[in-house]
Amino acid sequence: MKKNSVKVVTGAQWGDEGKGKVTHFMSKGADAVARFAGGCNAGHTIIFGGKTYKLHHLPSGIFKEECVNILGNGMVIDPLILNDELTSIRDGGFNSFNLQISDRAHIIMPYHRFIDSLKEQSKTGVKLGTTGRGIGPVYMDKAARTGIRASDLKNKELLSEKIKYHLKEKAHLLEGSNISIENILEKLTPAAEKIIPLITDDSVTLYELFQQEKNILLEGAQGALLDIDFGTYPFVTSSTSISGGASPGTGLPPWSIGTVVGIVKAYTTRVGTGPFPTELKDKTGEFLLTKGAEFGTTTGRPRRCGWLDLPLLKFSARINGLTSIALTKLDILTGLQTVKIAVDYKLDGKLVKNFPSDTAELERCQPVYHDFDGWEEDLSKIKEKQSLPNQAKKYIEFIEEYLKVPVSLISVGGDHDETIITDKKEILF
Ligand code: GDP
Ligand code: IMO
Ligand code: MG
Repeated sequence: MKKNSVKVVTGAQWGDEGKGKVTHFMSKGADAVARFAGGCNAGHTIIFGGKTYKLHHLPSGIFKEECVNILGNGMVIDPLILNDELTSIRDGGFNSFNLQISDRAHIIMPYHRFIDSLKEQSKTGVKLGTTGRGIGPVYMDKAARTGIRASDLKNKELLSEKIKYHLKEKAHLLEGSNISIENILEKLTPAAEKIIPLITDDSVTLYELFQQEKNILLEGAQGALLDIDFGTYPFVTSSTSISGGASPGTGLPPWSIGTVVGIVKAYTTRVGTGPFPTELKDKTGEFLLTKGAEFGTTTGRPRRCGWLDLPLLKFSARINGLTSIALTKLDILTGLQTVKIAVDYKLDGKLVKNFPSDTAELERCQPVYHDFDGWEEDLSKIKEKQSLPNQAKKYIEFIEEYLKVPVSLISVGGDHDETIITDKKEILF
């Protein structure tokens, strides 16, 4: 079987690094694009042909008719939101796409969303600032082995029994809500009917394509620091968002993956609560927020902004096994007199060797910065790395040298065409 025919795209920070843009760019030569984790907590933006598309469940290869797009078994799916997404894609003129939904993916129900918001409103317990999409509660049911899977949508009687079980089990939490079996089924049934024909065993589709030496792109959601195990726990999502999740999230064998492209924003952002050592609560933070239009694609919340954090990325590169980096939003740094990169953390006056797993410890870490001279040039029309301002090149080369991971793509604008490829083998099939 062909080496390097399976590539993973993964967020290397706290999400919103530009996975949608890069996956769509890389999907040019792909025969299949599969999402492997999360659900509609994700918001992936794609800009091409003068139009902007925001995807929540759909893989970023959906605009390519001949490409199989798969919602993998590692995902959680809200049929109502998925249908809205399909409608907006069709309204945009994309009618013929090849979409498959894993029979093993779990289904988000209204009670998951209700419980998610209930937990966020609770006076006790940690407020995570979730997207409110029911992600934590649906993955809880999956782990409890009581979840409702896409294949269950096909059996109306069994589905109804399963929903009733959950309404009974969660009755104490649902008090005060208007959630009932009747109003769940009223909305779910028509939505389910539209997606039932798309339900299939994704692991078979993908393995057959792999055997035929087809090009497969596996699209991550969220980012390494939001991973349930390796993220800044408990301020994380509830799935495996690191590259390793691509195998259990699709059924492809781990050894099939040849390339892992980590998407790195040229600075750092985070939505929701939790530690953020390089966060800027000053004018530079506001500059990044405004110029970078850093507002959540799913919730519209302003993203917290800060300098690039290399100790965090060193950890992320190791945990993800990055073979290269796609560096995005470099254009946003234009106009800053000085650009800083965190190169170390200090804790109680001592340098920290490894990225702390203890969130309280991370909270107390002070970044040590390396300063770079900024640049004034507009980068958006640049097509080759050599044409970048020297200061921008130094910034990129410093990152590569520190992380010992090469940069394979530089993104200088949100549009598909505002992209510089520096390693074709990594990015193109
Ligand atoms: P994702 O969740 O990782 O797919 O990222 P989002 O779509 O949530 O957020 C990234 C935002 O940055 C989107 O609005 C993109 O259109 C935009 N974007 C991506 N790459 C670039 C870039 O290189 N420059 C600029 N200016 N915007 C970019
Ligand atoms: P994409 O794929 C940025 C964050 C939420 C919250 C935490 C838990 O667009 O990069 P959840 O709803 O998952 O239980 O929320 O995770 N979060 C994201 N932040 N980008 C995302 O996805 C995110 N998905 C979840 O803000 O802090
Ligand atoms: Mg996003």
